[in-house]
Amino acid sequence: MSELRNAGIISMGSALPDRVLTNADLEKMVDTSDEWIRSMTGVRERRIAAEGEGCSDYAVKAARLALERAKLEPDDLDLIIVATFTGDQQLPSTACLVQSALGCVGTPAFDVAAACSGFVYSLAMADVFIRSGVYNRILVIGVELLSSVTNWTDRGTCVLFGDGAGAAIVGPVESGTGMISFDLGADGTGVDALKIPAGGSKMPVTHENLDEHANKVVMAGREVFKFAVKVQSDAIEHVLTKAGLTTDDIDMVIPHAANIRIIDSAVNRLGLPPEKFFTNLEKCGNTSAASIPLALDEAVQAGKVKKGDTVVLVGFGGGLTWAASLMKWVY
Ligand code: ACO
Repeated sequence: MSELRNAGIISMGSALPDRVLTNADLEKMVDTSDEWIRSMTGVRERRIAAEGEGCSDYAVKAARLALERAKLEPDDLDLIIVATFTGDQQLPSTACLVQSALGCVGTPAFDVAAACSGFVYSLAMADVFIRSGVYNRILVIGVELLSSVTNWTDRGTCVLFGDGAGAAIVGPVESGTGMISFDLGADGTGVDALKIPAGGSKMPVTHENLDEHANKVVMAGREVFKFAVKVQSDAIEHVLTKAGLTTDDIDMVIPHAANIRIIDSAVNRLGLPPEKFFTNLEKCGNTSAASIPLALDEAVQAGKVKKGDTVVLVGFGGGLTWAASLMKWVY
């Protein structure tokens, strides 16, 4: 093994379905209004995959773009990590489907289950593998087809979610740049706040529980909201402290796109200007593990995140879990 070295995101890509589902469309499906959805969540529209498509289709598109931008070939990859809880199938992992589609047979590949925190959890794993010298090029993907696990008759959840994928390539970078600090955590006492009750080993799918939508997301919205408001600010503060920095040093925060009111709470708690938070919640909705890489890629492409910037990623969600990372952007 070589000496410890820094790891950083060296390229990104993302992919969204073509189909747009607007709040006006949802008004025709459940008892809701554009006004309620916008004021309570900040979402105007979201992207929904076509029938027959799976998570891996979008993961592969995002990955190909990230590889192309990095001028790398699939065979250059040493590891593939996919964060998702809406994989194509329960078995095999979506990471193996991605590996097969990319054609890099032999590259290790596995999925990470940490809900909306999954992308940052996966970056933390990539960071350790690169720092320790085990691997040089790691593909990290956050992807979700939440439309497949949404109860479209439940107005409390169906207005929130969307589909999409974001991919990052992580590699060795100059000392003092790339991923500087992490804060990962979980509170398993909150397992019931956000779950898909049926479809696992405890409650296999039956005709009866399918009729009750038990194979779809069930959420205690208020409980998740309270949890999110607290851990989001705390996690940002923890990565700053670990990096020996303060809020004044932050150039951009990319928060998980769950609810604009949750993001606003961090703006207020941390006393940061709103323009230092970048989200595409309005047009993508909550895409769980995909939301941070989708927004980060958009921010980089728009020139809102530039080389040398101090960027904080922060996610929270089912588990309950949270994860933040502070990085010095490298390209
Ligand atoms: N349209 C109109 N009215 C609605 C809708 C809707 N779509 N949904 C709920 N309401 C109504 C409720 O029925 C309730 O009415 P009542 O007072 O007559 O009973 C009222 O609005 C308030 O409902 P609450 O659920 O208490 O509303 P709340 O203020 O909690 O907002 C929301 C709901 C937006 C879901 C919020 O709780 C939230 O954003 N929570 C966090 C979600 C989140 O962050 N998830 C992250 C993780 S997601 C993941 O891991 C996949």
